[in-house]
Amino acid sequence: MSHLRDRDYGTPASGLSQLVNLEIDGFRVTVPEGTSVMRAAAGIGIEIPKLCASDSLDPFGSCRLCVVQIEGGRGYPASCTTPVYEGMKVCTQNDKLAQIRRGVMELYISDHPLDCLTCSANGNCELQDMAGAVGLREVRYGYDGENHLRAEKDESNPYFTFEPSKCIVCSRCVRACEEIQGTFALTLDGRGFDSKVSPSQMEAFMDSECVSCGACVQACPTATLMEKSVIERGQPEHSVITTCAYCGVGCSFKAEMKGSEVVRMVPNKDGHANHGHSCVKGRFAFGYATHPDRITKPMIRSSLHESWREVSWEEAVHYAALEFKRIQGKYGRYSVGGITSSRCTNEETYLVQKLVRAAFGNNNVDTCARVCHSPTGYGLKRTFGESSGTQTFDSVMKADVILVIGANPTDGHPVFASFMKKRLRQGAKLIVADPRAIDLVQSPHVKADYHLKLRPGTNVALINAIAHVVAMEGLIDEAFVQSRCDVASFNKWREFIQQDRNSPESSERLTGVPAELVRGAARLYATGGNAAIYYGLGVTEHSQGSTMVIGIANLAMATGNIGRDGVGVNPLRGQNNVQGSCDMGSFPHEFPGYRHVSDFDTRALFETAWGVTLEAEPGLRIPNMFAAALDGSFKGLYVEGEDIAQSDPDTQHVLAALRSMECVVVQDLFLNETAKFAHVFLPGSSFLEKNGTFTNAERRISPVRKVMAPLGGYEDWEITQMLANALGYPMNYSHPSEIMDEISRLTPQFKGVSYEKLDRLGSIQWPCDEKTPEGTPIMHTDRFVRGNGFFMMTEYVPTQERTSSRFPLILTTGRILSQYNVGAQTRRTRNSEWHPEDRLEIHPHDAEVRGVGDGDWVGIKSRSGETVLRAVISERVQPGVVYTTFHFPESGANVITTDNSDWATNCPEYKVTAVQVTRVSAPSEWQRSYRAFTEQQLSLLEQTGAGAGAG
Ligand code: SF4
Ligand code: SF4
Ligand code: SF4
Ligand code: FES
Repeated sequence: MSHLRDRDYGTPASGLSQLVNLEIDGFRVTVPEGTSVMRAAAGIGIEIPKLCASDSLDPFGSCRLCVVQIEGGRGYPASCTTPVYEGMKVCTQNDKLAQIRRGVMELYISDHPLDCLTCSANGNCELQDMAGAVGLREVRYGYDGENHLRAEKDESNPYFTFEPSKCIVCSRCVRACEEIQGTFALTLDGRGFDSKVSPSQMEAFMDSECVSCGACVQACPTATLMEKSVIERGQPEHSVITTCAYCGVGCSFKAEMKGSEVVRMVPNKDGHANHGHSCVKGRFAFGYATHPDRITKPMIRSSLHESWREVSWEEAVHYAALEFKRIQGKYGRYSVGGITSSRCTNEETYLVQKLVRAAFGNNNVDTCARVCHSPTGYGLKRTFGESSGTQTFDSVMKADVILVIGANPTDGHPVFASFMKKRLRQGAKLIVADPRAIDLVQSPHVKADYHLKLRPGTNVALINAIAHVVAMEGLIDEAFVQSRCDVASFNKWREFIQQDRNSPESSERLTGVPAELVRGAARLYATGGNAAIYYGLGVTEHSQGSTMVIGIANLAMATGNIGRDGVGVNPLRGQNNVQGSCDMGSFPHEFPGYRHVSDFDTRALFETAWGVTLEAEPGLRIPNMFAAALDGSFKGLYVEGEDIAQSDPDTQHVLAALRSMECVVVQDLFLNETAKFAHVFLPGSSFLEKNGTFTNAERRISPVRKVMAPLGGYEDWEITQMLANALGYPMNYSHPSEIMDEISRLTPQFKGVSYEKLDRLGSIQWPCDEKTPEGTPIMHTDRFVRGNGFFMMTEYVPTQERTSSRFPLILTTGRILSQYNVGAQTRRTRNSEWHPEDRLEIHPHDAEVRGVGDGDWVGIKSRSGETVLRAVISERVQPGVVYTTFHFPESGANVITTDNSDWATNCPEYKVTAVQVTRVSAPSEWQRSYRAFTEQQLSLLEQTGAGAGAG
């Protein structure tokens, strides 16, 4: 057996608590009731041969290799499907059993190519292992009869092959697709000898429902389903456990390596966030890390129209430091700042904010969470006392009612979506509040009980209407409210929410959702048992994003759905380390641990630790930095890992701000959109090239481990350290663990966190301190972090972004499974085969009145700008609403979005833009100028010979 393969107990753990005593091969065993004989035997080191069984899947009992004898029982039952019972006596090995197993294996092998030596699975093949385990030495049947050896190979999937001649029809792949992934893309057609596995209706994988999660490849005991990277590079020889750098699920992976080359990423069975599952991004889309577009040499230039000059690290860092000092000398201390990214580790973001506060001497540090989940921080902190999600992902398995608001988990948080779908298949009820019919509304074996198809921008009216029903129909959990919440604030809220203007009937004309549906959904949420809310950027990226988060918190508190398994308020964070970058004090008003910069004691703590005097006034938020740049008072910016030129709203405004600065320092992997406006480029390192930690959406801190040397020579934290030193502020860390030690010394929520503990436990959910040394899976269990839960008013205020005869449609945006955020990583992988461009979804009615056909180019014009995309006619969107993704810079989705933002946090209102759509035949003016500028920047880059590609 391969030394890299995880131990497999054959069947899942039973989960029951009652214990049963039995004897296996003369050894006494005690296991929980419901355990299979196979698993009980594995527990004492007896490995019964098996092929169709796996502890990730329900037992199936098809291969008959695992037969055993039970004293007093008849025949030879399969140990994987036979549960233990008190007093059972099992024999796993005797001549008869050996003979049966050899017979079974002989039949398998007689229809299997004997190309073991050249097979890609050689050395890591369960069939090969089992042939050895059962002592098969010869095969009596020749290949002359009917067989499957010439079955055609399917190589359509970019990442794995399907070679049916090697299939033993064990059905592990089919079951993995159903039970783990929940996509039901594979079928087992036919019976007996004729049975075969196929994607959907005998389609190629690429044409089928398959979402390329890799669960079937992982489950396959032969080389039938095999990663192309393994076929090309051979079996890996060592592995390192690390964490996916894509979404906020934070899946744990084993990077399986050959030397310093990643052969494949295998989801870690012991991963606490993903339990061995993955999606196409984390599993397969890691090739960007070694893409030729990577820039690995530092570069400088004095103007955007000059070609880049490759320089040494010393020169680049020295130049950047001198420029920042020059700018501060000329324009003042507040004229420079830094932006951190949720793609970076905790340690990196901590260091950037430390550099800004201690070396720049101001609080001008912000992070990309500004443009996604800052309202979550505000809303949950004010109501619960802690600005984070309340649950573990596993908690969903105890939910009876799941309310998904403004999130698209199957695309944005795929592994968590698989858990959620599993719970829904077990019978949990589902309410989806979304303007668009996301996949969850109806997919195989999942159907939403309510789809509240609201008009974009009316979230608060909807949540108020739901709460109104709860309050008016006596569905408040009075005992919870009285014992756990601030009663005065509750009474005020109750009075407010009961007002007629918040009734479903009154809000129907705003939201477009029929009152009866709202009433039904509210009753279900309040009375259906454990009710859990999951929400995403469809909640936060609005002018009332913070109000909506508060509305959600109010609803959960009013119904007592906080503080235990199966309930809670769960923001689904978009990027891998959104939670962490917020925790680490990346905001201009907060130190690490969400403590305001004006707080004297906190400032004194950091001043002592860092040996500097710190600023007591909050610094500039990202949009304020842009405004100040255009005013001429903000001239220098250090951006680590974030592509503000693509991801921030109102692109033309952002670009004008960037152009007006005198020194933009970009630390990144590629010449991204922002780097085209940079004067200093510092080559960053990918997640494979560094040590650190990410914190996922469930507050889980997980290790990121270096599997190869940084291509540019340094990990990102080292670059920040060099820059701080060059600025005259000494930093002397020799490893990120020392940075974490400092974080834990200075941040109450991280008090008990250390690399040693992370290595020991695998991951830790903060808060972690003396009282909770192993972390906190569920928050607010006995009391809210702030003491009593606090209710706040949530008056609905319509967005200023109105439709009109000039702009009659509402544009809303979202994500797609195969691409990630600005796409800089996924566009450099074969994931683009699924989604090669952003398109505009438009309802057939709106398309028809505009004469737009499927695939036509359409101009999308807003009050901010205009871009051109291809149209997809789709009933997923409602009439009056159009939708697009934003993964490609040339799409210019943010050229159209406005600078409207959340009243409390400035989070941009990405989700509501009034637009007009018309059929066109040429790119927009912005797109033409974008192309010209990109070509110019690429040719300036080429002149240095530094790298090939843009953004
Ligand atoms: S890759 Fe995932 S979705 Fe595709 S067939 Fe396999 S298990 Fe199903
Ligand atoms: S493809 Fe692999 S997992 Fe699926 S039935 Fe064939 S051998 Fe089993
Ligand atoms: S679900 Fe998210 S964290 Fe997990 S593999 Fe996919 S992108 Fe990575
Ligand atoms: S492993 Fe038990 S029947 Fe296949």
